[in-house]
Amino acid sequence: MSNPSEAELIHRFKGISFTTRSSPELLKSLDTFDAREDDVLLASYPKSGTHWLAGIITKLYNTQVTLTSPIEFGDVSKLEELNKLSSKRIIPTHLDYNMLPPNFKNKKCKMIYISRNPKDTAVSMYHYYRENPNLPTIDTWTAFFDLFLKGDVVCGSWFDHFLSWEEHESNKNILFLFYEDMKKDLPKIVKEISLFLGLNISDSDIQDICKKSSFSEMKSNTEKENSDPSHTVCALTSNRKLIFRKGVVGDWKNHFTPKQNQRFEEIFHEKMKGSKM
Ligand code: A3P
Repeated sequence: MSNPSEAELIHRFKGISFTTRSSPELLKSLDTFDAREDDVLLASYPKSGTHWLAGIITKLYNTQVTLTSPIEFGDVSKLEELNKLSSKRIIPTHLDYNMLPPNFKNKKCKMIYISRNPKDTAVSMYHYYRENPNLPTIDTWTAFFDLFLKGDVVCGSWFDHFLSWEEHESNKNILFLFYEDMKKDLPKIVKEISLFLGLNISDSDIQDICKKSSFSEMKSNTEKENSDPSHTVCALTSNRKLIFRKGVVGDWKNHFTPKQNQRFEEIFHEKMKGSKM
């Protein structure tokens, strides 16, 4: 059987590439979504550590919450399905801030945005594209590097995504996190998340959650987890090995040539001129 064509896998909505698993009808209907005040939104550009964060948050709440698949993933019946959930909802999304259903903003729902060095994000995404039959074929790292810099990948430009969220960083209902900070001092960040969510978690429980959220634990436990696509952050694959790849900071150094690094730095400084990053 031949590989599906790019047109079968990808479509554009408001100038941003989405996989065809996010139906245009669903994307059009997102503005009508009825958010609840106690919804927690987990926002990220792909490959920034979303599964890691989702694992931590579900452990913090224990069993009283439902982790859904990303709000933009599925067909037009998705919003109805989310409406039917009676428990507190943890809703992941890769949407940029401007595309969020306005109700999340009006109701001041808690949102956590996780970001990661875009060089490592690009490398992680490259491997994900390479291994995932639900994404277009990528022949070489060089080809992917160009697409990433142009923002011609799923979820669009990393720079636009980050900047759209950073603009709202000071909102009290938004917590900004960095993958690298989680790698450096996970207990500190887990404490920060628990305070933001208004949860009273003992230091020993925090230590326990951190232990269970290490890369090796999460990778080896992944088979036992609920892999029902409506309750996973990445509903684009059932192959969990694609999600828990290396889990390190700085893998970009094994991929970027000095010339690519220079080009990346130039574009980064140009695009991020107004950013605090
Ligand atoms: P790598 O491909 O660099 O290994 P997302 O969940 O947003 O799709 O991000 C996936 C990236 O997060 C992958 O990066 C994956 O290995 C990393 N990751 C997942 N769980 C992790 C953990 N517990 N600790 C550190 N990194 C983790």
